[in-house]
Amino acid sequence: MLNKNKRDMQDISTRVWNNYYKSQQPGDSSGNEYPCEGLVRFISNLRKNRNKFDYFNDAGIEAKIRSNFKGKALEIGFGNLTNLRMVKKKGFNCSGLEVSENSVKRSKQFIKNKKIKNIRTKLWKPSKIPYKNDTFDLVYGMQCIYYNLDFEFFLEEVNRVLKKNGNFIFSFFSDRHDYTTKYSEVVDRKKNLIRWSGKHPNKRIRYAILYQPKSKSHLRSLFKKFRKVKISTYEHDDIPVFQSWWYISGIK
Ligand SMILES: C[S@@+](CC[C@H](N)C(=O)[O-])C[C@H]1O[C@@H](n2cnc3c(N)ncnc32)[C@H](O)[C@@H]1O
Repeated sequence: MLNKNKRDMQDISTRVWNNYYKSQQPGDSSGNEYPCEGLVRFISNLRKNRNKFDYFNDAGIEAKIRSNFKGKALEIGFGNLTNLRMVKKKGFNCSGLEVSENSVKRSKQFIKNKKIKNIRTKLWKPSKIPYKNDTFDLVYGMQCIYYNLDFEFFLEEVNRVLKKNGNFIFSFFSDRHDYTTKYSEVVDRKKNLIRWSGKHPNKRIRYAILYQPKSKSHLRSLFKKFRKVKISTYEHDDIPVFQSWWYISGIK
């Protein structure tokens, strides 16, 4: 659990993000219009075999393996509802947690206005996950879960709420991302805490504090309790900052 110092730091990040959503154009659906590409690829490939020959061996079942999912999914740090709507469309019964009051308010408005079923959202104070053991078939969090500063406790919580054989996917900044190489400063080296510096190009997220794994192998070691863990790197330079992500997935 968080000590006082870490709790204060956690609150700083929560405040930064709540102010971020408050600064957005009013309405129930501002923010990203489309789901996170890494998540789209992951869900689309969920029923594909990892063996390279079997991967392409889906003649006659192409549509079937990409939809008709059953079970419960949890998105942590959903931001707005684009990811959850995509996951719901695949067939999952969805829940979402957010630390930002403003974002939760917008999501509830959107769900009500569009009469959406099978998506529930909740305000969340990290890091205890407010669900019973073995609840979810899928737990994911894109571009966000490193804001849980007591990261090892957070992962225990993910493990607890996932069902056996349940899937997870999370993303992290790699050690090549411009954000980490150019616009971060160390807060506590031993605890792997950094923050976005006063030069961060996205002014609205400056000084948010996050947990940054030292390396890809450090990231892997954090997930040692899980099975079939895979880390893939996704990089692109089509926007003014170089993006480099580690996507980590696996099962309980
Ligand atoms: C870059 S946005 C990503 C939003 C969404 N996951 C997506 O893929 O579009 C970062 C999100 O992290 C959320 N966040 C802040 N603190 C968090 C925490 N401790 N755990 C999970 N998410 C957190 C923010 O409120 C914000 O919605």
